[in-house]
Amino acid sequence: MLITIDKVLTKEQVLQFRQQLDHADWSDGAATAGTLAKSVKRNQQLDDNGELCIALGNQIVRTLSQTPLFISAALPRTIYPPKFNRYADGGTYGAHVDSALMFLPGSSQQMRTDLSATLFLAEPDEYDGGELEVEGPFGVQCVKLEAGDMVLYPSSSLHRVTPVTRGARVASFFWIESLVANETERTLLFDLDQSVQHMAPSFAPDDQRLVQLTGVYHNLLRRWAKT
Ligand code: NI
Repeated sequence: MLITIDKVLTKEQVLQFRQQLDHADWSDGAATAGTLAKSVKRNQQLDDNGELCIALGNQIVRTLSQTPLFISAALPRTIYPPKFNRYADGGTYGAHVDSALMFLPGSSQQMRTDLSATLFLAEPDEYDGGELEVEGPFGVQCVKLEAGDMVLYPSSSLHRVTPVTRGARVASFFWIESLVANETERTLLFDLDQSVQHMAPSFAPDDQRLVQLTGVYHNLLRRWAKT
Protein backbone atom coordinates (compact mmCIF):
# COMPACT_ATOMS: atom_id res chain seq x y z
CA MET A 1 0.00 0.00 0.00
CA LEU A 2 1.14 3.53 -0.76
CA ILE A 3 0.82 5.97 2.13
CA THR A 4 1.14 9.70 1.61
CA ILE A 5 2.12 11.91 4.53
CA ASP A 6 1.41 15.58 3.87
CA LYS A 7 3.50 18.44 5.23
CA VAL A 8 6.34 16.46 6.79
CA LEU A 9 8.27 19.68 6.22
CA THR A 10 6.71 23.14 6.24
CA LYS A 11 7.16 25.38 3.19
CA GLU A 12 9.66 27.44 5.24
CA GLN A 13 11.69 24.31 5.96
CA VAL A 14 11.57 23.29 2.30
CA LEU A 15 12.85 26.74 1.34
CA GLN A 16 15.67 26.45 3.85
CA PHE A 17 16.56 22.96 2.51
CA ARG A 18 16.48 24.16 -1.07
CA GLN A 19 18.65 27.21 -0.45
CA GLN A 20 21.36 24.83 0.69
CA LEU A 21 20.72 21.99 -1.76
CA ASP A 22 20.57 24.21 -4.84
CA HIS A 23 24.14 25.35 -4.18
CA ALA A 24 25.47 21.93 -3.19
CA ASP A 25 27.95 19.76 -5.08
CA TRP A 26 26.02 16.96 -6.74
CA SER A 27 27.76 13.87 -8.10
CA ASP A 28 26.76 11.11 -10.52
CA GLY A 29 24.25 8.77 -8.83
CA ALA A 30 25.33 5.72 -10.87
CA ALA A 31 28.48 5.54 -8.72
CA THR A 32 26.41 4.30 -5.77
CA ALA A 33 24.08 1.92 -7.62
CA GLY A 34 24.37 -1.87 -7.58
CA THR A 35 25.55 -3.64 -10.76
CA LEU A 36 22.05 -4.07 -12.18
CA ALA A 37 20.70 -0.69 -11.08
CA LYS A 38 23.73 1.12 -12.56
CA SER A 39 22.48 0.58 -16.10
CA VAL A 40 19.08 2.21 -15.39
CA LYS A 41 20.07 4.97 -12.97
CA ARG A 42 20.67 8.47 -14.35
CA ASN A 43 20.55 11.11 -11.64
CA GLN A 44 22.70 13.08 -9.23
CA GLN A 45 23.28 12.45 -5.56
CA LEU A 46 24.60 14.42 -2.63
CA ASP A 47 27.69 13.03 -0.87
CA ASP A 48 26.29 10.87 1.98
CA ASN A 49 29.25 11.68 4.20
CA GLY A 50 29.06 15.42 3.63
CA GLU A 51 28.04 17.80 6.41
CA LEU A 52 25.00 19.07 4.50
CA CYS A 53 23.56 15.60 3.87
CA ILE A 54 24.03 14.61 7.51
CA ALA A 55 22.57 17.85 8.89
CA LEU A 56 19.47 17.85 6.65
CA GLY A 57 19.03 14.10 7.09
CA ASN A 58 19.06 14.46 10.88
CA GLN A 59 16.47 17.20 10.62
CA ILE A 60 14.17 14.90 8.62
CA VAL A 61 14.58 12.02 11.07
CA ARG A 62 13.87 14.33 14.04
CA THR A 63 10.72 15.62 12.35
CA LEU A 64 9.53 12.10 11.48
CA SER A 65 9.96 10.93 15.05
CA GLN A 66 7.33 13.57 15.96
CA THR A 67 4.95 12.72 13.10
CA PRO A 68 2.24 10.35 14.43
CA LEU A 69 1.04 9.32 10.95
CA PHE A 70 4.57 8.19 10.03
CA ILE A 71 4.98 6.23 13.27
CA SER A 72 1.58 4.58 12.78
CA ALA A 73 2.26 3.67 9.14
CA ALA A 74 5.90 2.56 9.39
CA LEU A 75 6.27 1.35 13.00
CA PRO A 76 9.95 2.11 12.50
CA ARG A 77 12.74 0.18 14.13
CA THR A 78 15.56 1.68 12.05
CA ILE A 79 15.56 4.63 9.66
CA TYR A 80 18.40 4.75 7.13
CA PRO A 81 20.06 8.20 7.25
CA PRO A 82 18.21 10.16 4.53
CA LYS A 83 19.96 10.66 1.20
CA PHE A 84 19.26 13.35 -1.41
CA ASN A 85 18.98 13.17 -5.18
CA ARG A 86 18.38 15.44 -8.11
CA TYR A 87 16.98 14.58 -11.54
CA ALA A 88 17.38 17.04 -14.44
CA ASP A 89 18.18 17.04 -18.18
CA GLY A 90 16.33 13.78 -18.91
CA GLY A 91 17.51 12.19 -15.65
CA THR A 92 15.62 9.01 -14.83
CA TYR A 93 15.76 5.81 -12.82
CA GLY A 94 14.40 2.75 -14.64
CA ALA A 95 12.37 -0.04 -13.06
CA HIS A 96 14.10 -1.70 -10.11
CA VAL A 97 13.54 -3.21 -6.67
CA ASP A 98 15.57 -1.71 -3.81
CA SER A 99 18.20 -3.90 -2.15
CA ALA A 100 16.72 -5.98 0.67
CA LEU A 101 19.62 -5.49 3.10
CA MET A 102 21.75 -2.41 3.60
CA PHE A 103 24.66 -1.59 5.83
CA LEU A 104 24.13 1.51 7.92
CA PRO A 105 26.77 4.05 6.86
CA GLY A 106 30.07 3.66 8.68
CA SER A 107 28.81 0.60 10.53
CA SER A 108 28.88 -3.19 10.27
CA GLN A 109 25.19 -3.20 11.25
CA GLN A 110 22.75 -4.27 8.57
CA MET A 111 19.10 -3.34 8.23
CA ARG A 112 16.28 -4.89 6.21
CA THR A 113 14.43 -2.46 3.95
CA ASP A 114 10.68 -2.89 4.52
CA LEU A 115 9.54 0.55 3.38
CA SER A 116 11.00 3.04 0.93
CA ALA A 117 10.36 6.74 1.40
CA THR A 118 10.53 9.69 -0.99
CA LEU A 119 10.22 13.20 0.46
CA PHE A 120 9.61 15.67 -2.34
CA LEU A 121 11.62 18.91 -2.12
CA ALA A 122 10.57 20.50 -5.43
CA GLU A 123 7.08 21.72 -6.27
CA PRO A 124 5.32 19.77 -9.06
CA ASP A 125 5.29 22.85 -11.33
CA GLU A 126 9.09 23.22 -11.11
CA TYR A 127 9.63 20.22 -13.40
CA ASP A 128 8.01 18.03 -16.04
CA GLY A 129 8.17 14.25 -15.69
CA GLY A 130 9.89 12.90 -12.60
CA GLU A 131 6.88 10.88 -11.50
CA LEU A 132 7.55 8.03 -9.09
CA GLU A 133 5.74 5.01 -10.53
CA VAL A 134 5.14 2.15 -8.14
CA GLU A 135 3.78 -1.22 -9.27
CA GLY A 136 1.27 -2.72 -6.87
CA PRO A 137 -1.45 -5.38 -6.83
CA PHE A 138 -3.89 -2.99 -8.57
CA GLY A 139 -1.51 -1.74 -11.25
CA VAL A 140 0.89 1.17 -11.46
CA GLN A 141 0.43 4.12 -9.13
CA CYS A 142 1.90 7.44 -10.14
CA VAL A 143 3.20 9.77 -7.43
CA LYS A 144 4.20 13.42 -7.74
CA LEU A 145 3.67 15.36 -4.53
CA GLU A 146 3.98 18.92 -3.29
CA ALA A 147 7.29 19.95 -1.78
CA GLY A 148 7.36 18.87 1.87
CA ASP A 149 5.07 15.85 1.33
CA MET A 150 6.30 12.25 1.54
CA VAL A 151 5.26 8.87 0.18
CA LEU A 152 5.93 5.49 1.80
CA TYR A 153 5.79 2.35 -0.37
CA PRO A 154 6.81 -1.27 0.08
CA SER A 155 10.53 -1.73 -0.69
CA SER A 156 9.56 -5.02 -2.33
CA SER A 157 7.71 -3.22 -5.13
CA LEU A 158 9.05 -2.58 -8.61
CA HIS A 159 9.35 1.19 -9.07
CA ARG A 160 10.85 3.81 -11.37
CA VAL A 161 11.27 7.56 -11.79
CA THR A 162 10.19 8.83 -15.21
CA PRO A 163 12.57 11.15 -17.14
CA VAL A 164 12.65 14.79 -16.05
CA THR A 165 12.28 16.77 -19.27
CA ARG A 166 12.15 20.30 -17.77
CA GLY A 167 13.49 21.78 -14.55
CA ALA A 168 14.85 19.72 -11.69
CA ARG A 169 13.32 17.23 -9.28
CA VAL A 170 14.99 17.40 -5.87
CA ALA A 171 14.06 14.86 -3.22
CA SER A 172 15.22 13.01 -0.16
CA PHE A 173 14.95 9.23 -0.12
CA PHE A 174 15.61 6.58 2.48
CA TRP A 175 14.46 3.24 3.86
CA ILE A 176 12.82 1.99 7.00
CA GLU A 177 13.10 -1.33 8.78
CA SER A 178 9.77 -1.84 10.51
CA LEU A 179 9.07 -3.56 13.81
CA VAL A 180 6.42 -5.43 11.78
CA ALA A 181 8.09 -6.92 8.70
CA ASN A 182 4.93 -8.42 7.22
CA GLU A 183 3.19 -5.84 5.04
CA THR A 184 -0.30 -7.29 5.49
CA GLU A 185 0.05 -7.24 9.27
CA ARG A 186 1.52 -3.72 9.23
CA THR A 187 -1.32 -2.46 7.01
CA LEU A 188 -3.97 -4.01 9.28
CA LEU A 189 -2.39 -2.30 12.30
CA PHE A 190 -2.27 1.00 10.44
CA ASP A 191 -5.94 0.78 9.39
CA LEU A 192 -7.01 -0.15 12.92
CA ASP A 193 -4.97 2.63 14.51
CA GLN A 194 -6.27 5.23 12.08
CA SER A 195 -9.89 4.13 12.67
CA VAL A 196 -9.44 4.37 16.44
CA GLN A 197 -7.77 7.80 16.11
CA HIS A 198 -10.63 9.11 13.96
CA MET A 199 -13.31 7.70 16.28
CA ALA A 200 -11.70 8.76 19.54
CA PRO A 201 -12.93 12.40 19.59
CA SER A 202 -16.55 11.18 19.46
CA PHE A 203 -16.18 9.07 22.62
CA ALA A 204 -15.41 9.77 26.26
CA PRO A 205 -11.78 8.73 26.90
CA ASP A 206 -12.95 6.00 29.32
CA ASP A 207 -15.64 4.61 26.98
CA GLN A 208 -15.31 0.81 27.26
CA ARG A 209 -15.70 0.26 23.50
CA LEU A 210 -12.81 2.61 22.79
CA VAL A 211 -10.70 1.08 25.57
CA GLN A 212 -11.34 -2.41 24.21
CA LEU A 213 -10.55 -1.49 20.61
CA THR A 214 -7.33 0.24 21.70
CA GLY A 215 -6.49 -2.94 23.62
CA VAL A 216 -7.00 -5.01 20.47
CA TYR A 217 -4.53 -2.76 18.63
CA HIS A 218 -1.86 -3.15 21.29
CA ASN A 219 -2.37 -6.87 21.63
CA LEU A 220 -2.04 -7.38 17.88
CA LEU A 221 1.06 -5.17 17.87
CA ARG A 222 2.48 -7.25 20.75
CA ARG A 223 1.87 -10.38 18.69
CA TRP A 224 3.39 -9.13 15.44
CA ALA A 225 6.18 -6.75 16.46
CA LYS A 226 9.71 -8.17 16.53
CA THR A 227 11.97 -5.89 18.53
NI1 NI B 1 14.50 2.62 -5.61
